[in-house]
Amino acid sequence: YRIAVFASGEGSNFQSLVDAVRNGGLNASVELLVCDKPAARVVQRAQDAGVDCHLFTPKNYESREAYEKEIVEVLEAKNIDLVVLAGYMRLLTSVVVDRYAGRLINIHPSLLPAFPGKDAVGQALEYGVKITGVTVHFVDGGMDTGPIIAQHPVPVLLGDTAETISKSIHAAEQQLYPEVVSWFAQGLVELNGRQVTVRQI
Ligand code: GRF
Repeated sequence: YRIAVFASGEGSNFQSLVDAVRNGGLNASVELLVCDKPAARVVQRAQDAGVDCHLFTPKNYESREAYEKEIVEVLEAKNIDLVVLAGYMRLLTSVVVDRYAGRLINIHPSLLPAFPGKDAVGQALEYGVKITGVTVHFVDGGMDTGPIIAQHPVPVLLGDTAETISKSIHAAEQQLYPEVVSWFAQGLVELNGRQVTVRQI
């Protein structure tokens, strides 16, 4: 089962997927990193792990569609089964979204539909919620709007700051994302309209 990870930054989620493959918790191979920030830390992580990279600089293209067509060619050449967004800081167009419908997932640091978009942790703190968390969802054309696959709560405790909550959220993400990807690798995830079912093993 062949996965591609799209990321723009630190890459702790990319790392947790690579590590899960290595330690046997995820029966899949990370075939490709797609990254729009050639200097990002995640690129170094991919090189260290021996994962191929497709790096690009968006401003060198005349449109989002233009660089996404190139990405789809790379994904197809590598026979990618599942596209896993992990801190990829760009909206995808229908070029990727339609081609990989049902095979394209994202992780977001809130309990969606609360706090979509940027700085979800800051939004949650500002709002004053007592529980936030992590959501893994299918990607559609909107901003964090696709069908929800799995969620994990993270409590907001007295004295928490954006930094401490982010830490707890990252810890939850690093547990949840490899597990969800392993459900896909085992063919356990079914999508009907907005309803996602994960078959029990
Ligand atoms: C994660 O919190 C993820 O939920 C969000 O971006 C962050 C990426 O972190 N979409 P990292 O680059 O995986 O460390």
